[in-house]
Amino acid sequence: MASNHYQASIDIGTEKIALLVADKEDDGHLRIIAHNVCPSAGVIKGSLRSIDSLSRAANKLIDQTFESFSLGFDRVSVNISDTHLTCTDGKGKVSINEAVTLKDLDSVLESAMAMSTPTNKEKLHRIKKKFTINETVIVDNPLEMEAEVLESKVHIVTVSSSSVRNIENCIKQCDLQLDKIVLNPLAKSQALLSQEEKDDGVFLVDIGAGVTSYSIFHEEGIVRSGVIPMGGDEVTQDIAYAFDTSLEEAKRLKENYGFAKSISPSDDKFIDFFQNKDERQLSSLELSEVIENSYREIFTLLKNELKHHNLEGIIKSGLVLCGGGSEVQSIVELARDFFSRRVKIGQIQRSRISGLETILTDYKYAGAIGLLLYEGDLSKAEFVGSDNGKGVIDKLKKVIVGNF
Ligand SMILES: Nc1ncnc2c1ncn2[C@@H]1O[C@H](COP(=O)(O)OP(=O)(O)OP(=O)(O)O)[C@@H](O)[C@H]1O
Ligand SMILES: [Mg+2]
Repeated sequence: MASNHYQASIDIGTEKIALLVADKEDDGHLRIIAHNVCPSAGVIKGSLRSIDSLSRAANKLIDQTFESFSLGFDRVSVNISDTHLTCTDGKGKVSINEAVTLKDLDSVLESAMAMSTPTNKEKLHRIKKKFTINETVIVDNPLEMEAEVLESKVHIVTVSSSSVRNIENCIKQCDLQLDKIVLNPLAKSQALLSQEEKDDGVFLVDIGAGVTSYSIFHEEGIVRSGVIPMGGDEVTQDIAYAFDTSLEEAKRLKENYGFAKSISPSDDKFIDFFQNKDERQLSSLELSEVIENSYREIFTLLKNELKHHNLEGIIKSGLVLCGGGSEVQSIVELARDFFSRRVKIGQIQRSRISGLETILTDYKYAGAIGLLLYEGDLSKAEFVGSDNGKGVIDKLKKVIVGNF
């Protein structure tokens, strides 16, 4: 049964591709009605390198889903990970004649979005942040408020145009239309963070297979996002090197016996493993030491990002971890020691979405859930340029009130 009102999303990862289909109920609540996951292909360090390989894998996944769940869809939202992304706050400022009107909002947002884009890059996201009145008061919605000066910030994320074209072409090869492309950590933030955590200041860290991506939120909204070219695959490689074994065996050791924080010598035990075809034993303490060193390298890069952008002081709610790399035992303890902050594993926020418990608690689907839930971009074409007409006013009001 083909249906246009179903919403579908595909999380394209270095290791896996996850697909979800949801039915939108009248009140906007999403109910997940189909799910599927398969190994990825043609993706290296989060970025698409072979459109043919990925679209072959995705087509198979889509066909299997159509068949198993007896449904169809024609539009899909997809994520993007770009290690060369940039994020900047565009700023707008206007003088107000008594109270703030929709026309004032229109012009302050338009000037905040006017920033030029470097060659080979394009604006992927334009996210409205809170407004400032008279240089001091921060508000979500300044409409009709008395003011002399109104300032706005729009968070602009640019990514490489070729990455966007590659994803568009891949979706075309799957005979689907592209609904939206969302930066991976922003999609995950919609699924995993509460508004309170965002307002207090939070560091969302997604440790994937090929990349670790992050987003930082604070009082005014999104502050910055980034993608670091290191993830769980590096941990696997370090284990393979340390114990002279295959990547497959190293991954098995990590996922079945690994600890991110070195275990105590009194808990040490022998683990059987294969070195080439020979059966050997290794110490679980030594394995945990190798894994801890690898995770410390990833955490050092993340801490450098915080330091470099002077953001260490703003993450009052601490860290929320997600992605397969966060499934390793004692990762929360290691991150807590390393960052001296509160740390937790992200859980799906269920107010706007429901589905099978096994899907809502499986890390593999968090990205696809975030894509289904994602909203928050200002679309210039939707409202800028006119303050007449109820439709335009309603849209603008929706954007203002529905703060990201
Ligand atoms: N129990 C576990 N312990 C340790 N690592 C794990 C565990 N389960 C999964 N992983 C690791 O998680 C990684 C896969 O995570 P994920 O599915 O989030 O990546 P991805 O989305 O495909 O890739 P990326 O986001 O980097 O493009 C792999 O490195 C895998 O070994
Ligand atoms: Mg991922």
